[in-house]
Amino acid sequence: MTHQTVADNAYQAGPKSRAFFKEEQNYIAPGLQTIALYAQIAVESGTGAVLRDVDGQEYVDLVAGIGVASLGYGHPDWARAVAEQAAKTAVGSFTSAHRLNFLKTLASVTPKGLTRCQLYSSGAEAVEAALRLAKSKTGKFEVIGFWGGFHGKTLGVMGLLNDGFKNSYGAMAPGLHLSPYPDSRRCPLGASGPHDCGAHCLAFLREKIKRETTGAVAAIILEPVQGTNGNVVPPPGFFAGVRDIAREIGALFIADEMITGFGRTGRMFGCDHEGVVPDLMTIGKGFGGGFPVSGVVASDETSRAAPWSNPSGSSSSYGGNPLASAACDATLQVILRDKLVDNAAKVGSVMLEKLEGIKAAQPLIGAVRGRGLMIGVDLVHPKDGRPLDKAVCREVFEESLQRGVLTMAYNPSLRINPPLVITEAEAVRGLDLLGEALDVVRRRRGL
Ligand SMILES: Cc1ncc(COP(=O)(O)O)c(C=O)c1O
Repeated sequence: MTHQTVADNAYQAGPKSRAFFKEEQNYIAPGLQTIALYAQIAVESGTGAVLRDVDGQEYVDLVAGIGVASLGYGHPDWARAVAEQAAKTAVGSFTSAHRLNFLKTLASVTPKGLTRCQLYSSGAEAVEAALRLAKSKTGKFEVIGFWGGFHGKTLGVMGLLNDGFKNSYGAMAPGLHLSPYPDSRRCPLGASGPHDCGAHCLAFLREKIKRETTGAVAAIILEPVQGTNGNVVPPPGFFAGVRDIAREIGALFIADEMITGFGRTGRMFGCDHEGVVPDLMTIGKGFGGGFPVSGVVASDETSRAAPWSNPSGSSSSYGGNPLASAACDATLQVILRDKLVDNAAKVGSVMLEKLEGIKAAQPLIGAVRGRGLMIGVDLVHPKDGRPLDKAVCREVFEESLQRGVLTMAYNPSLRINPPLVITEAEAVRGLDLLGEALDVVRRRRGL
């Protein structure tokens, strides 16, 4: 057994994959994503929403690199744009035809007035840049996030994360606060229904600001749908309520659209569901179709705040370089041309309906929720509804993988977020295979 594997389960990837994985374990540092550690597959190629490993096994991908592969795999337009650009120049902060084109396109699809974008390489970097901009604009320094939130693993944002991720790293950056996020599974404040829960969480937020902050809140940051927490959709009105509170206290309202942006929820941005325009948006993941690129989107006025806006004040070495810009340009064009936002809404609703059907006959599924292609499924113990043990979840993951579907079923808050290009047939096939895997594990475990 290698140092990164957690248990020696019966599951085995194909022989070539296993050989790659085993040898790499001598060199790669521990801490890889769970999905890679558990699957132990070496990926060879992919087409659309289907991935292929080096043993020739194919998988319907319901993960998309956790919301990154918006165009799926091997998209010809994306591949051409990146390859052609790579052959010319890849480096530098100079403007380019691709960058100009995609920034103009981006400004035409963002919520009203959010026309300026600065570019980075990772999500955490963009979130940190958004916090710096909020501090520049307001002259304040505190930041409020939400229970269950995730904004990246760098030290400046770590204090905004849910428990677990930030444990054992000592003191977090000063001025960071967390408030409850309404959760359809169980209201953190014990309210009975989702609307009630949303109202309670808003009331709590007001009290928190009054009692716990120093009155110097620069920003409130919110995921329109909480991804890492299990694709949790807040009740209607919560998003607008947080925006109103931010306005009242003179803080910027930041929508972290890292996963929810670019069509994932069946609208171009997650905040579009509520018709709310945030002060800042952070974007990444599906934005570059796999190229590591992220950004902060702001209004013209907000983006002028100094010192953020001073020369070299908001820039970074790789942000918006020619290669990243080619990837973003191709990705945005394909999303718009091929109406992938509509596809996410359409296939997402088919998947939700299908999952409700599977749930009716499958006691391991407790609840299903979602928006577009951002779907959450709770895996539970049939007897008492508590989250399914992780060891059992891992079996579901492995049984799914063996049947040819890649999922995040190793966690009882199963997140489904396939590429936006997934077809209805692929989505249904993937869920059928997941249903089979659940059944096999339920019988084997006598649940
Ligand atoms: C909402 C949200 N914000 C920020 C991040 C951090 O992105 P990255 O891993 O690219 O730093 C993530 C990553 O999952 C995320 O889901």
